[in-house]
Amino acid sequence: MEKFKVLITDHIAEEGIKILLDSKDIEVEEKPGISHEELKEIIGNYDAIITRSGTTITADLLENPGKLKIIGRAGVGLDNVDIEAASKKGIIVMNAPTGNTLAATELTMGMMLAAARKIPAAHISLKNGEWNRKKFMGIQLFNKTLGIVGLGRIGSNVAIRAKSFGMKIVAYDPYIKKSKAESLGVTLLDNLEDLLKISDVITFHTPLTKETKNMITKKEIELMKDGVILVNCARGGIINENDLYDALKSGKVFTAAIDVFEKEPPKGNKLLELDNLFVTPHIGANTEEGQKGVAVIIAEQIVNALHGKSYINA
Ligand code: NAD
Ligand code: MLT
Repeated sequence: MEKFKVLITDHIAEEGIKILLDSKDIEVEEKPGISHEELKEIIGNYDAIITRSGTTITADLLENPGKLKIIGRAGVGLDNVDIEAASKKGIIVMNAPTGNTLAATELTMGMMLAAARKIPAAHISLKNGEWNRKKFMGIQLFNKTLGIVGLGRIGSNVAIRAKSFGMKIVAYDPYIKKSKAESLGVTLLDNLEDLLKISDVITFHTPLTKETKNMITKKEIELMKDGVILVNCARGGIINENDLYDALKSGKVFTAAIDVFEKEPPKGNKLLELDNLFVTPHIGANTEEGQKGVAVIIAEQIVNALHGKSYINA
């Protein structure tokens, strides 16, 4: 009997690969870092493909999809998959939305503290032989207002943790019920502008969509408090990078902590030159638990879908 073939184009946890192989009728090939051209040539030879954010599944890749039936995203964001093009070809797109929630939440908390106290800069300074305590003056989070844009899984978990810091929490998310925010002790605002005006720290937890791309530009930054702190562990492009650069340079924004970029890796990105911008290389989901979580969920979904059992569509 011919086996199903699954191609994995980014690194995923062994636990997920084991689930696929345990199925006995599935063959797995791993090609992390595969080029767009090579992928286009071979994609039609596989029944399913598993990606993370390193592979973009564009419409041209799906022009001749061969036997491809499933695109599985070992993570939440589907902004790197052309869902419309996939649907037109009858290809199922699925993700693993709950697997890395806490990993991304905890990175956000770390980034918030790093930005408020300039921890990465202090670390580099001391490692370089300096002992400069005056330079690293921070901002206390207690009693400050945290603005959460996008009160979904990660936003909600950030809210719960930030409450224990004694922060007042407001959120903007036009797609959730007020009662959800209330149950978290969060004040849900009717518009983004109000959140921008009153928050001392703003953190973003929306998907990247037509609506959220460039949600924050010069115009929105002008509404913010002087010395605001910005955290983005969601997607590059939600905050316009040029405008963020200017605001960090002028001091309008005290510090920003960013895990994600418009173009990844952000080679030559001028944001990286700034001392008050702290960065990580899209590691929001990178915990043992988070990676195991998404790999297991996506592998189980793919096994089910290939065998005609029920699965959750994205
Ligand atoms: P989620 O779907 O649970 O939450 C997203 C929330 O954003 C929803 O409540 C939705 O209503 C809200 N939203 C959508 N459009 C909005 C808008 N225009 N304004 C305000 N709110 C809006 O998703 P999640 O699991 O919390 O993940 C959020 C995002 O975080 C993902 O889409 C992904 O892009 C990103 N993410 C990044 C990493 C990382 O490695 N850095 C890891 C996991 C997730
Ligand atoms: C996600 O959307 O789940 C994240 O970007 C995590 C990732 O793919 O590394």
